[in-house]
This record gives sequence, structure tokens and C-alpha cells, in this order.
Amino acid sequence: MKKRLVVLTGAGISAESGLRTFRGSDGMWEHENIEDVCTPRGYSRDKKRVKDFYNFLRLGLKDHEPNAAHIALAQLEKRLGNEMLLVTQNVDDLHERAGSRQVLHMHGALMRLACERNPNHRFVFTGEETMETRCPFCGAMSRPDIVFFEEQPQYMEEIQDALRECEEFVYIGTSSVVYPAAGFKSYAHSFGAKVTCLNLEVPASDPYTDVCIEGKASIIVPEWCDKFK
Ligand code: OAD
Repeated sequence: MKKRLVVLTGAGISAESGLRTFRGSDGMWEHENIEDVCTPRGYSRDKKRVKDFYNFLRLGLKDHEPNAAHIALAQLEKRLGNEMLLVTQNVDDLHERAGSRQVLHMHGALMRLACERNPNHRFVFTGEETMETRCPFCGAMSRPDIVFFEEQPQYMEEIQDALRECEEFVYIGTSSVVYPAAGFKSYAHSFGAKVTCLNLEVPASDPYTDVCIEGKASIIVPEWCDKFK
């Protein structure tokens, strides 16, 4: 179905729920080495370290709640139904816990594991992954369902189809530096969509973004969602 709206969220939407963003002062990548925990090389070098890192993030999610921005997007989905597509770069489950039913986690999800042998094998997982955890479909070793740098993000075909056809594309709480997500605005714009940015800081002028609204996601997202009746 042709989409009226495609929404892309990034770490900034979960910041007011107490989850660290990745860049900027005190961001995740100031505390952890990307190469160690988010690349295929780091994973092959020390699988236990990588599994433990994502175990820590997964088990910590219970201490965080969705905020008004997640809730507003879930309510918007109820109003727009299939006319809206929600894509997130986030691996947390706050969109789902706010009530969103259709969320494409293009960078993977903490509440799922994947299979080392077959990329089509993915399964819901809420506990602590160990070196003994196995894929329930084929028995191979599991791995975090996290898209490491240099790996292909998930759902790209579905996302690109929606970006080509949508009337409006909005990106929320993302620094727009990690591709391919950073290229969605120019892609949607080139197919005629209106492009809107909602972020704490408005980025330097950008030829693909028609409207920028600056502020905290918990304030500006509910206000912006109100315009869809
Ligand atoms: P970043 O940490 O790069 O950017 C977060 C953005 O959110 C910044 O532009 C902040 O200004 C903004 N922000 C912070 N607090 C906010 C608030 N309360 N309201 C609104 N905006 C706020 O995070 P992402 O762009 O999501 O990938 O990072 C993209 C990818 O890089 C992540 O998915 C992750 C990372 O490496 C993987 O792990 C594969």
C-alpha cells in the first residue's frame, strides 16, 4: 500500500527515556570501542565479549520506559494504519512497548537473536545469551541480532519501496551520519516527498530537508503528530 508517511527514528528519541545516544558527549561510542563490539572482526575475535555487551544492554532495557515521543508515534500508527511506516535505527524495544505494532528495526533488535549459520533464522530472546545458546531452527550457535558495521541493514527493499512512494518522510533524533539511513532523506526527496527533521539540534542547512523543528523529542514529536487528523 502506498505510504502517506515514513518515519525514521534514531537514538535521540530514546534519550529522554534514559538510554545513551551514540555520538556527542558521553555517547556510547565514547565508552565502548566500536571495532570491538560492533564489527564482524570484533565478533570473531571475542564472541563472549560481544554477547556480554548486548546482554548488558538487553537486560538493562527493563529499567527504561517509553517516553511521550514513542507514545505519540504509536498513537499516530493507530490513526494512519498502513499509510504509515515506522523504521528505527534503534535496537531498543521502546517503540513496541509504547504500542507500535509495525516497527522495522533496520539495525537489528536486542530482544531477538540471530543464527550464525542462516541469516533467515531469527528468534525472540529476552534473557542472557551464552556461548551455549543455540538457534532453535537449526542448532547452530546464536549471535546478537545486531547489524554490525559493514553488514547489510535489514528490510532495505521494503524501506526503499516506501520511500519512493511516500508523501512525507520525517527523521527524528538521528545525527544522520550512518549510511544507508543517512541517505533516506535525499532518496525520498528525489522522489517528491516532503522531508522533515525533528531533532534537538537543527543540522547545518541541508538541500534535502524542507522543514526542521528543533527541540526535545518528548515535546516536539507529539506536537508534530497532532497535525495528522
Ligand atoms: P546518534 O547518537 O548519532 O545521534 C543522536 C541524535 O539525537 C543527535 O543528533 C542528537 O542531537 C539527537 N538528540 C539527542 N537527544 C535528543 C532529544 N531528547 N530529542 C531529540 N533529539 C535528540 O544516534 P543515531 O543517529 O541513532 O548503529 O546513530 C545511528 C547509528 O549509529 C545507530 O543505530 C548505531 C550507531 O552506531 C549500530 O549500532 C549499528
